[in-house]
Amino acid sequence: MTAPALTAAEADSVVGQAVFDEIIARDSRIEPRDWMPDAYRRTLVRQISQHAHSEIIGMQPEGNWITRAPSLKRKAILMAKVQDEAGHGLYLYSAAQTLGITRDEMTQQLIDGKAKYSSIFNYPTPTWADMGAIGWLVDGAAICNQVPLCRASYGPYARAMVRVCKEESFHQRQGFEILLSLMNGTEAQREMAQDAVDRWYWPSLMMFGPPDDESPNSAQSMAWKIKRFSNDELRQRFVGMLVPQAEVLGIRLPDPDLRWNEDEKRWDMSEIDWTEFHEVLAGRGPMNAVRIQNRRDAHEEGAWVREAAAEYARTQARKTERAVA
Ligand SMILES: [Fe+2]
Ligand SMILES: [Fe+2]
Repeated sequence: MTAPALTAAEADSVVGQAVFDEIIARDSRIEPRDWMPDAYRRTLVRQISQHAHSEIIGMQPEGNWITRAPSLKRKAILMAKVQDEAGHGLYLYSAAQTLGITRDEMTQQLIDGKAKYSSIFNYPTPTWADMGAIGWLVDGAAICNQVPLCRASYGPYARAMVRVCKEESFHQRQGFEILLSLMNGTEAQREMAQDAVDRWYWPSLMMFGPPDDESPNSAQSMAWKIKRFSNDELRQRFVGMLVPQAEVLGIRLPDPDLRWNEDEKRWDMSEIDWTEFHEVLAGRGPMNAVRIQNRRDAHEEGAWVREAAAEYARTQARKTERAVA
């Protein structure tokens, strides 16, 4: 008895899967034109577009302070930082586009409220010290998450991350430096810095996602070498980075149970309040509606720029055609 013959498409995917598995096994890169499993493509589109949206929405909490930065130097630094985040969004949208989704589709998903982005950006930034806490904690957590992504198996994503990470380390240092200046200032400034760290510490730990035993997609992403370390491993690294820096700052991390466990070689910490995380994730965070509304307004108000750019491109194309003819 002979097995039924494979169709051409089935044969392609058998060969494709074998080549794909081989590339992953030898730790090489998958490139846009390579065959890849549909689920790998979908996972990457979801992850990279969410990441891009986070960079773009993440401009808002800090953009809030550009006009009120305490000095010209601080204003210049903050503007450069927020502009970097726009650049990160653009590299990442471009990386996602290599997987077959358009920029328009991604933007539409975001302004329709259908796309996710990092919940951390749904918290308000009431004081200048928030600029310090965001740089130190939020960009710090982003670095821990993103450095391993420089070795992600999808080439365009990994390469985008290399540049993003260089800029993130500048962001983290500028945040640290804002906090350091405040901690060397008046009593009121020290209190403001401590208050900001108290508010941002737990949300920044939540940026690594749920605990490993409640993170169903992680194992597949690790097998595909998109993800290199588990959520809990990354959270441990982050806390290990913060503790000595908090000592230099003279700032208290708001967790009375935080201590190094020498026997298990890990940080013991209090339970994270995941109900808050799920509330914010479900769109009931303090600033969700405002963030999306601002993004929608910016998109609508920018329509004329997109139309003008498209018209300019058409005119240039006509000129080139005439020159060739
Ligand atoms: Fe960024
Ligand atoms: Fe950043």
